[in-house]
Amino acid sequence: MGGESKVDGNRNGYVIVTAALPYANGEIHLGHVTSTYLPADIFSRYLKLKGRKVLYISGTDDHGTPILIQAEKEGIPPEELVRKWLSRDIEDFSKLGIEFSIFYKTHSPENIELTQRFFENIYKKGFIFKQEIEQWYCGNCKRFLPDRYVVGTCPFCGAENQYSDGCEVCGRAFPSYMIKEPKCIVCGSTPFLKESIHYFFKLSSFSDQLRGWLVSNSNLQPEVRNYVLKWIEDGLKDWDITRDISWGVPIPLNEKDAEGKVLYGWFDNHLGYIAFTYKYFRDHMGEEVDTRKIWNSSVIYHFIGKDIVYHHYLFLPAMRMAEGSFKLPDYLPTRGHLLLQNEKFSKSKGWYISLRNFLEIFPPDYLRFYLALTTPYSQKDVNFDWDDFQLKLNNELIANIGNFIHRVLTFTYSYFEGIVPEPSEMEELDLKFVDDLKQAVRDVGELMDEIKLDKALKRILDFSTSCNRYFQSSEPWGKRDKGKTCIYLSINAVRTLSILLWPFIPFTIEKLWNTLNIPKSFRNSSLISWSSVSELKIKPGHKINKPSVLFKRMDKEIMEQKEKFKKKH
Ligand code: 2FM
Ligand code: ZN
Repeated sequence: MGGESKVDGNRNGYVIVTAALPYANGEIHLGHVTSTYLPADIFSRYLKLKGRKVLYISGTDDHGTPILIQAEKEGIPPEELVRKWLSRDIEDFSKLGIEFSIFYKTHSPENIELTQRFFENIYKKGFIFKQEIEQWYCGNCKRFLPDRYVVGTCPFCGAENQYSDGCEVCGRAFPSYMIKEPKCIVCGSTPFLKESIHYFFKLSSFSDQLRGWLVSNSNLQPEVRNYVLKWIEDGLKDWDITRDISWGVPIPLNEKDAEGKVLYGWFDNHLGYIAFTYKYFRDHMGEEVDTRKIWNSSVIYHFIGKDIVYHHYLFLPAMRMAEGSFKLPDYLPTRGHLLLQNEKFSKSKGWYISLRNFLEIFPPDYLRFYLALTTPYSQKDVNFDWDDFQLKLNNELIANIGNFIHRVLTFTYSYFEGIVPEPSEMEELDLKFVDDLKQAVRDVGELMDEIKLDKALKRILDFSTSCNRYFQSSEPWGKRDKGKTCIYLSINAVRTLSILLWPFIPFTIEKLWNTLNIPKSFRNSSLISWSSVSELKIKPGHKINKPSVLFKRMDKEIMEQKEKFKKKH
């Protein structure tokens, strides 16, 4: 800790926060939310409170074979499929309070154009070459089978039932032809290898540069950096960037070999981060804006889940290095998978929770709170457990935070007609409480800057515990004068808590701001900003509104879910 963080060191520039793009062929589930969208949302809300110019960027990942095949299954054009998922995702995310600056799509003129420009520039610089490869072909389905349509045994660690482009067990990405005992996932038959000309990106030429970048970028999580360095030591393979299908970004070359092929989805999807930023600025500032300049002077965070480390720590930086005009990420916050009651999510077995279904039962802030509290800033998998969910809601959200806020508000409302009293002289207990508050704010700020969001939330809970303790030992009931200081400080502590908590549980906090009778939007209020968070901003004489209950226990609903999942076993 200590020292000026990079975000603060560049106060005038933008902070660009991206969240990995969800494939446009399936619904958002709690796993996506845990590793990526929620941490990125909490972090960007925090930066907004600090008055930073933050862009939170994402969108659908539209190209690639899985999407084409899904569209074929549904009997609709892929354009229609991706359009459907784009609007579904926007709805689902907004119900959880995930507040994007823009949620766009890779199948957009902006992204297709940028991708083709990238290809041309890299091609001109000699980093792309052609090679005849043998590609899996299913004689039964009469088509080339892209990576994710072949499953088999990992050539490195022997794990079974892995997609042919990489192994989830040992984490390596590899060319599809290397998979052992291949099977076509559409029809189950054994495919054979057939010749096809493909275009390759010379990833191996960037080994030294990538190593240099990984070693010198001290913002990267050391545990991830180390295993990526190990991959480089083992030797990087050049990367096949084309596919024999029609759905994707056309190869911008006028030659026979390029016909009937498109660029691989992983060539264009991460360029969406840049293309969507461009789209955002063009929509908000007009045609003239120089996105490259803005991009290059911004602090850049790409939030991802650990299954796409290879792509973000190697392909993405190498492509930017090769093309040369867009800066590399400053941070690649990477988090683990979500387990459900200690088992891997599985859609086919029903061992799975979609965001939409969850939010039909529970309020969004309950999910945000629980996941934020249990998801570390590391590769460690996170476990969603119904008992633990219940425990954390009841003991922390409700009995700790909810209790303090409710006691203070109802006390003020019923004993002081809702008017914040004039404090009398501060005693030791009061002064110590003000010190505690200031220390809590400093600690939370440092943890948030370091993206250790779970630890920041735990520190807020500790502070809330000390608020409860202060209220209890001050005994404001009965002693009118002493009561006044306690209520004055407690109401201010509620405001402090509200700011600390807004990134985590924004729906509840915005309701609370109503009761506190302070403007809802931090954008035009000095009462709601990080710079004033530890000040006693609510003055004597301020009138609050009638308090309402912020949280309710949901034991019955949780019990029902537990039963439902027990039956699935
Ligand atoms: O793994 C996935 O879900 C991909 N759709 C993530 C893409 S992130 C990107 F665009 F870099
Ligand atoms: Zn087949």
